[in-house]
Amino acid sequence: MIPRFKLAPSILSADFSDLKTALKQCDEGGAHWIHVDVMDNQFVPNLTVGPPIVKSIRHKTKKFIDVHMMVINPEKLVEPFARAGADNITFHIEATDDPEGIIEFIKSCGCKAGVSVKPKTLLSDIYPILDKVDLVLIMSVEPGFGGQSYLPDSNERISQTKQYLNDNCLDRVLIEVDGGIKLHNVSKVLDSGADVIVAGSEIFKADDPVQTIQEFCLTVE
Ligand code: DX5
Ligand code: ZN
Repeated sequence: MIPRFKLAPSILSADFSDLKTALKQCDEGGAHWIHVDVMDNQFVPNLTVGPPIVKSIRHKTKKFIDVHMMVINPEKLVEPFARAGADNITFHIEATDDPEGIIEFIKSCGCKAGVSVKPKTLLSDIYPILDKVDLVLIMSVEPGFGGQSYLPDSNERISQTKQYLNDNCLDRVLIEVDGGIKLHNVSKVLDSGADVIVAGSEIFKADDPVQTIQEFCLTVE
């Protein structure tokens, strides 16, 4: 059964003293991407990892490394993450007044470009640039921490984004959804139009992360 979506485990919820095991679990479970949450304790009230971690995991996995930058001045970190081996770099629309410039810069560094939107930000804030990105990351929790509950009106936001992309012949743009996604609610997220699912605590806090990844991948819309 090949899932019609991609699963991107977020290593934020993994054991940072043993990321090798987390990557092995992603391999054994059949995950598609590795989601790396970058937080600067300014854009969000938490501080996590930087380019050295991406460089380390780059040598250990062939999977698509999906960097989610929850930082101010995201333009300053594009090149270091690209050099470290990121495949996709996503910035937050709320963190810049030059989204077009950042998208161009990410692409000039050889990476796919994503834009993310916080739950309370108007979707119309990103509409003008959706024709320039490869991916749009819809936050289904307030960014900053793993283990939060899925915000229910996220499904409506996913559907609206899907509708906008289809209406504007932009169905090549992937919709990634991030935050509070569990085995019990993932089907509804997919039904709403998600192409890529981020899951952190549901996987890495599970008794058997490999089995949980496998169960996610067996989910059909
Ligand atoms: C939150 C991060 C998410 C988070 C997902 O700011 O962007 O990627 O780690 O973790 P769960 O799946 O536990 O909500
Ligand atoms: Zn994330």
